[in-house]
Amino acid sequence: MNEKFLNGRVAVVTGGGRGIGRAIGVALAGVGCKVAFVHLDSTMAAESVELASKFGGEAIALSCDVRDEPQVKRAAADVVKRFGAVHVLVNNAARRFARISSTSLSMSGAWL
Ligand SMILES: NC(=O)c1ccc[n+]([C@@H]2O[C@H](COP(=O)([O-])OP(=O)(O)OC[C@H]3O[C@@H](n4cnc5c(N)ncnc54)[C@H](O)[C@@H]3O)[C@@H](O)[C@H]2O)c1
Repeated sequence: MNEKFLNGRVAVVTGGGRGIGRAIGVALAGVGCKVAFVHLDSTMAAESVELASKFGGEAIALSCDVRDEPQVKRAAADVVKRFGAVHVLVNNAARRFARISSTSLSMSGAWL
C-alpha cells in the first residue's frame, strides 16, 4: 500500500463488520486513513472500530444495507459530515459464497 498517498484519506469499507472488510479497514487505519465501517451488525462493527483505533486510525461504524439506496445515500452523507469527504471505497459487502463440493460439478462444469 502507498502509505504516503493514503495517510489522512477517508476510506469507506462496506461489509466492514468482519472478515476481509474488517482486515482491509484495519490495514487502511494502520496507514493513516480515517475509516468508516459500513455494516449490518453493530456488535461486530464496534470490534472493527476498536481494532482500527488500536492501529492508530480514526474509525466509525455506520449501519447500512448496501442493497437499499436510501440507506446508502444516508451513510455516504454521514461519512462526509463526519470526515469531510470520501477518497477510497472498498466495495466489499456481499453474502458469503456457498461452499461448493467438488462433487457438485460435472467435468464440463455444468451443475449436477
Ligand atoms: N472469503 C473468501 O474466500 C472470498 C473469496 C472470493 C470473494 N470473496 C468476497 O469478499 C468479500 C468479503 O468476504 P468475507 O469472506 O470477508 O465475507 P463475510 O461474510 O465474512 O463478510 C461479509 C460482510 O459483509 C456484510 N454484508 C453482507 N451483505 C451486506 C449488505 N447488504 N449490506 C452491508 N453489509 C453486508 C456482512 O454482514 C459481513 O460483515 C465478499 O464480497 C465475498 O463475496 C470472498
